[in-house]
Amino acid sequence: MVFDSKIRPITWENGMSKMLDQTIIPYEYKYVNIKTGQEMFDAIKNMIVRGAPAIGIAGAQGVVLYAQEGREGKYDSFDEYKQWLLEKADYMATSRPTAVNLMWACNEQKNVIKNSTSDVEGLIDELTQKAIEIEKDDIERCIKIGEYGAEVVPKGATILTHCNAGALATGGYGTALGVVRSAYAKDNTVQVFADETRPRQQGARLTTFELAMDGIPVTLITDGMCSYFMNKGMIDMVVVGADRIAANGDSANKIGTYTVAIAAKYHNIPFYIAAPLSTIDTSIKTGEEIPIEERSREEVTHINGKRICAEGINIINPGFDVTPHELISGIITEKGILRPDYNKSIKEAFERI
Ligand code: MRU
Repeated sequence: MVFDSKIRPITWENGMSKMLDQTIIPYEYKYVNIKTGQEMFDAIKNMIVRGAPAIGIAGAQGVVLYAQEGREGKYDSFDEYKQWLLEKADYMATSRPTAVNLMWACNEQKNVIKNSTSDVEGLIDELTQKAIEIEKDDIERCIKIGEYGAEVVPKGATILTHCNAGALATGGYGTALGVVRSAYAKDNTVQVFADETRPRQQGARLTTFELAMDGIPVTLITDGMCSYFMNKGMIDMVVVGADRIAANGDSANKIGTYTVAIAAKYHNIPFYIAAPLSTIDTSIKTGEEIPIEERSREEVTHINGKRICAEGINIINPGFDVTPHELISGIITEKGILRPDYNKSIKEAFERI
């Protein structure tokens, strides 16, 4: 049995992207229509849509939007139109730097463009089908991740998670929260502790929102509290998502994840990453090569538009950190749970595709 979530953060409808505005949850639950490639670029950058798999779907849809706009362009040949579109796909892939799913999905669209022997309308159709397929596949992958992950969730477990790797961050269902959903479907004594996740509060605003919507018990804690509850024996395991995983298993995820992983290791608590294979970037050997997004100072200095600190101080705001592979008990993918040595298990997982 699958405990589904009804949340679909991004879909394709009537030639445009329909996305849930995640900047205003939980105050409002509102869909916005994204009609142009530039609007999609801005929606990704400004985190109207966020979460690695979800921005992959958004990137793929963004390329379709550009392809539609290109109808009006003056091209001497189909090849010239394709060349213009390839540049737009490259541009779309730069809307955020860390989550590799975005580059992966734009690259999938680039392959469609390169391989097309059709015409402008035919290519738009092919790109639309690909974007829909990426969205649909993502939900299926998440359900498989959930099923594999549920096997390592002890009965009655309290699962700590950081940020939001749920239905809102994917096509639906979620990666880390997919594990929670599948585990809860089998055992409704499972519960979640959600880190607040400063500065953008994805844990407080989004994770608690979607779990409460599904009736899954959740306790909100602030980021600094995790080791306190681990020490009290109140956390049985940690499951988080990832934005990019290197070939050796080093995993980038929302800033603060590394701290949770260190605390989990100290307290002997299993720490799992849940992510589809499209989050693994085998072109990079270690986490040192993962580009870390630097976001605005205002995310740190302000909460809900109100300044919370003195003027004239220094601010640094990296959006992600990298958890070294030594701290990771397993990587839960749609092809099963990968265990150390990750260089080997990741390579084998790709061979099974
Ligand atoms: O900055 P965000 O909100 O896009 O960061 C999201 C995360 O770090 C998630 O944990 C990650 O993308 C995995 S989502 C399944």
